[in-house]
Amino acid sequence: MAVAPGTTSKEGWSSRSAFILAAIGAAVGLGNIWRFPTLAGENGGGAFVLFYIGCVFLLGLPLVLSEIFIGRAGQTDAVGSIRKVARESRSSEKWSIFGGIGALAAFLIVSFYSVVAGWVLYYVGVMGADLLQAIVAGDPFRGALMGESQEAIQGRMGDLFANPMLLLGMHLVFMGATLFIVARGVSGGIEKAATILMPAFFVLLIGITIYGAVVGDIGEAAAFLFTPDWSLLTPQAMNEALGQALFSLSLGVAGLITYGSYIRENSGLGSTALTIAVADTSVALLSGLMIFPIVLAVGLDPAAGPTLVFQSLPFAFQTMPGGALIGFLFFVLILVAAVTSSISLLEVPTAWGIGELGWKRTTSSLIFGGGAFLIGIACLLGYNVWADVRPLSFWSIFAETDILDTIDGFTGKVMLPVGALLTALFIGWKADKNLLKVTTGLSSGSFAIFRFLIAWLCPLAVAIILVTGLFPGVLG
Ligand code: TRP
Repeated sequence: MAVAPGTTSKEGWSSRSAFILAAIGAAVGLGNIWRFPTLAGENGGGAFVLFYIGCVFLLGLPLVLSEIFIGRAGQTDAVGSIRKVARESRSSEKWSIFGGIGALAAFLIVSFYSVVAGWVLYYVGVMGADLLQAIVAGDPFRGALMGESQEAIQGRMGDLFANPMLLLGMHLVFMGATLFIVARGVSGGIEKAATILMPAFFVLLIGITIYGAVVGDIGEAAAFLFTPDWSLLTPQAMNEALGQALFSLSLGVAGLITYGSYIRENSGLGSTALTIAVADTSVALLSGLMIFPIVLAVGLDPAAGPTLVFQSLPFAFQTMPGGALIGFLFFVLILVAAVTSSISLLEVPTAWGIGELGWKRTTSSLIFGGGAFLIGIACLLGYNVWADVRPLSFWSIFAETDILDTIDGFTGKVMLPVGALLTALFIGWKADKNLLKVTTGLSSGSFAIFRFLIAWLCPLAVAIILVTGLFPGVLG
């Protein structure tokens, strides 16, 4: 039997539930708690949310299953796994190129993801210090940042952005933690982090949502999130919803191929994929139900954009009973989610270095983690010293974007959809049907639906996101 060159060592998940937890940890991240509520708010709520849910189950779910299948069948890094499935399907091994694009995209994403997670870390520090003061003052259940005006609270973000050393320090700590976990390996690092952090995450999420429901206006929030006004569903909003579905499920960068390659046993991949998609979407919706009651209760604008979580919420926590404590826990929650996602991102290039270049795990994670750290430095300097730098200024859609937004935009609008498109075409048209059916363990009915979605709907829809994302003019 042909073994792919440099097949990854015998690393693997210790159980099916460990894999599911790690994959949910990868999916649930800043995308759910920061990006989803931001986009839902900006795009008017209900119609966007319902369309998003449709995207997750009709496009995301088949792609999740496809990636896990490739990893399970390939049993090595993304490039090697695709190569192996291609060979067994008598297709060209050139398809493995999308594993390489994926590894590069994951490497670029983790560089700025760590910078954004660094902001979260900073707010954990701010809210933590405030909580400590409250406890020392014998009033642990007071609101957050008492005595600070709304302007002062919102100004904290500007102060942070103006301070490259502070940004750098936070980025360093976060990337260092990510690297440390990935260097410790699959079962000793990634799995352990997920099994400790994910349960803590769910306890916090449910706790804060209940808190928001009690002290905030959950009725108005639910109405905002679920009552569709279809006139607000513009082509741009649909494009954003599709892109967000890919990002939130961690698709298009071979992340789930990599995680899937550590599955050892044969078990129904269909139900595993469904569990991941349902969990990720539930967390996104719960995040909305956690954040909007708090935002709406104090009359803040749900469409505030990317600063919603960082500028609006800390102010909202000021006026709420127990705000100092809950505000602190809220940022801890986001941080936990970010860690389990960033390790999945760094793992993709790390596994590639191990599988394709024959590097040791520590070497590979250090090289890619270190490289991403350096690119992240450029991103954070883009908020101060290099504020005028526009890396892709010749390209109209990136003409106005700073370094971080350019890398975010390029990976999200170009690399992710390209990766997802090639995955869909490969699985829909090239992969051996028998291998696919046996490995996924789907029933005949589900298999037929899956094949239709992955061969037709996914390529079409993803091609549309790609084109409309690159040429916004076609959206009118
Ligand atoms: N899905 C994660 C989030 O929602 C981020 C993430 C992890 C990701 N791995 C990925 C995004 C791979 C795209 C591709 O925050």
